[in-house]
Amino acid sequence: MAEITENQNSSEDIARTIGFDLVRAVESASLAGFRWLGCGDKIAADEAATDAMRGMLNMVDMQGICVIGEGIKDEAPGIFRNEKLGCWRSGSHRVNFAIDPIDGTRLTAKGLPGAISVLAATIVSKDSTRVLAELPSFYSYKLAYGPAVREANPEIDLDAPLEKTLQTIAECLQKRVGDLVVALLDRPRHEAQIDAIRRLGARIRLIGDGDVAMAIAPSMLNNTVDVYIGIGGSPEAVIAAAAIKCLGGEMLVRMWPRDESELAELKDSEWADSLGHIYNCDDLAAGEDIIFAATGISDSPMLEGVVIRGQHVYTHSMLMRARSRTVRYIQTIHDLSRKTIRFASDQKEHSL
Ligand code: FBP
Repeated sequence: MAEITENQNSSEDIARTIGFDLVRAVESASLAGFRWLGCGDKIAADEAATDAMRGMLNMVDMQGICVIGEGIKDEAPGIFRNEKLGCWRSGSHRVNFAIDPIDGTRLTAKGLPGAISVLAATIVSKDSTRVLAELPSFYSYKLAYGPAVREANPEIDLDAPLEKTLQTIAECLQKRVGDLVVALLDRPRHEAQIDAIRRLGARIRLIGDGDVAMAIAPSMLNNTVDVYIGIGGSPEAVIAAAAIKCLGGEMLVRMWPRDESELAELKDSEWADSLGHIYNCDDLAAGEDIIFAATGISDSPMLEGVVIRGQHVYTHSMLMRARSRTVRYIQTIHDLSRKTIRFASDQKEHSL
C-alpha cells in the first residue's frame, strides 16, 4: 500500500466523516416522502420530505448553506437558496449544499418508479468561495455520458447534429450506434432529438420525470443507459454533476431560457455572458471535496425504493465522494416500533 506523506487537510477529513450524517438526511426525506407514495398530492409529499431533510441537516455539526435549492424551479416547498443548515457552532466546517428532497414529486404522488431523495455537498475550505455553481435559468440543456467516453477524450460539440455526437459516443464505447441506449425526459420539447435518435436506429428510454438519476445513469458501473440528453431543471443539473464527478463521467450543460421573457431577463443580468457558456462537471462542482448522497423513494435502476416488511422499513442509499471515487451502497433497516424522524417545522420527533 503506498504511503501518503502529505498532511491530510481538514476539509478532506470532514468530507469523509460527514457522509453518514448526509445519508441520514436523504434517508429521512425519503421515508417522509414515501408516506405519501401514490397519494396524488405531490406538494404534500415534497413538504414532508423537505421538513424531514431540514430537520436532520439542522442537527449536523456544520455551518451549512443551501446554495442550490429546489423551490426556485416551481415554487414547490423546498430548502431555499441561502438558507442556513446545521448547528452553526462557531468553528464548525462550512458546507455548501445543492438539495432536492424529492426528485420526482409527480412520480411519488402517482406511486411510479424513479423517485429519489438527493443532495450534493461540498466542504468549503478557507480560500475557496462558491464551489457549487449556480445556474439561474429554469432549465438547462444537458448531455451526460460515462467514464469510458470521457476517458477517450472525444471532441463533443453541443451544437453539432445529434447524429454526429451519438456516432462519436458509440465509437468511444466500441458499440454500433444502433446499439446505444439514449435516455430523455418525455417532453414535446425533445421531439427533434427523439426523431434524430430514431432515424439512427438507436434505443430510446423516455422517462416521465427524475432526470438527476437518469443523467447519472451512464456513469454507473452497472449502467443500462449510454447517454442522457435533453432539457431539464437547472438545479438538477448541478446535483447530477456532483454525482457524475464522483463516478468519473462527464456532463455538458448550457442554460436554456424557456421563453423570450426569461431570455431577456438573463440578458439583462450579471449572467448575460454565461448564457452561451458550456459548463462541465468540474465547472458545476469544483474541487475534490464533493459528496453525493441519495436514497430511493420508489424503485429505480439507480436505487431500490423504500420497502416495508413486517416491523421493519428498508431504505437503500448511495454515498459517494469525488476525491476517492468511493461508491457506497447502504441498506438501512429501521425498526418501525422505534424509528422516529425529526421534522424541522415543529422540532419534534415523529414516528413513521
Ligand atoms: P421535481 O420532482 O423536483 O418537480 O422535478 C422532476 C423533474 O422531472 C426533474 O427531474 C427535471 O429536471 C424537471 O422536473 C423537468 O422539468 P419539467 O417537468 O418542467 O419538464
